[in-house]
Amino acid sequence: MQSSHAVARPSLLLTRKLPDAVEARAARDYRAVLNTDDTPLSGAEIAARASGMDGILCCAGDRLDAAAIAALPDSVRILATFSVGTDHIDLAAARARGLTVTNTPDVLTDATADIALLLMLGAARRASEGERMIRAGSWTGWTPTQLMGTHLGGKRLAILGMGRIGRAVAERARAFGMAIHYHNRSRLTPDLEQGATFHEDAEAMLEHADLLSFHCPATKETTHWLNAARIERLPRGAIVVNTARGAVVEDAALIAALRSGRIAAAGLDVFEGEPNLNPAYRDLPNTFLLPHLGSATVETRNAMGFRALDNLDAHFNKRQIRDKVI
Ligand code: DGY
Repeated sequence: MQSSHAVARPSLLLTRKLPDAVEARAARDYRAVLNTDDTPLSGAEIAARASGMDGILCCAGDRLDAAAIAALPDSVRILATFSVGTDHIDLAAARARGLTVTNTPDVLTDATADIALLLMLGAARRASEGERMIRAGSWTGWTPTQLMGTHLGGKRLAILGMGRIGRAVAERARAFGMAIHYHNRSRLTPDLEQGATFHEDAEAMLEHADLLSFHCPATKETTHWLNAARIERLPRGAIVVNTARGAVVEDAALIAALRSGRIAAAGLDVFEGEPNLNPAYRDLPNTFLLPHLGSATVETRNAMGFRALDNLDAHFNKRQIRDKVI
């Protein structure tokens, strides 16, 4: 006999291939439509595949703009994104349609903070140049002046956006002996600040930034925030690190500053228009580049998937949703 639970299972579209354990749980609890070959889908394709679906488990690379949201079938009531960022979803359009949107905060904090430190080290210690030298077979041996980078210890790290990830980065950076400066919409309480210097004015913070690391969401206000004028306010030879969203950096300005040496190096995990990043980044020796790996650990990606499913379960069982964005 089929259980009433099985009969009542809601239908759920997974827009990308998710970790096996996450897909197994989705298939157990939902009439899940998987994307087993992980084909990237446009907003229009997601809307077409969502025909007859009750919910969508989407990802950061899906462009759910106003047109895609307008094209969704009426049956879809919830978009649960497998990401903390929600900039890929037109929230105003989703709100206007009465959709619930959830995200996956907390569970990716440590993994993303670890990658920020990797980028700092990679950029400061010229890891890309060294790796390329080895792979090209052009390393002729140790020399006293080869690929000299710069220490993190004793440097000032300026953090734009002191939320969960920003604070986790600060904690790690303190262990490297860095002094923390930060800008945030509101000043943190002393227990969260942990001795970091608050700057009410983000631009005024720049002159204290031997390294600048972005941990803010991509919004209208932060789009192309790091432009030529703001780069001029950084100390000569500063290092820029981005694990937030590519759009916060104006690529042309950063690339010009990396070429001239005004900025010594950049460590970038995210890019405007990714995966089609500005090709100049690839040619610069002083960039350390990763393909949006911030949350890419098995533990974290499983936790993100389970968190998204928890939110979907709460929605469909009419319980309070933990990570309701709208
Ligand atoms: C996010 O969660 O927003 C990341 O960019 C993808 O892990």
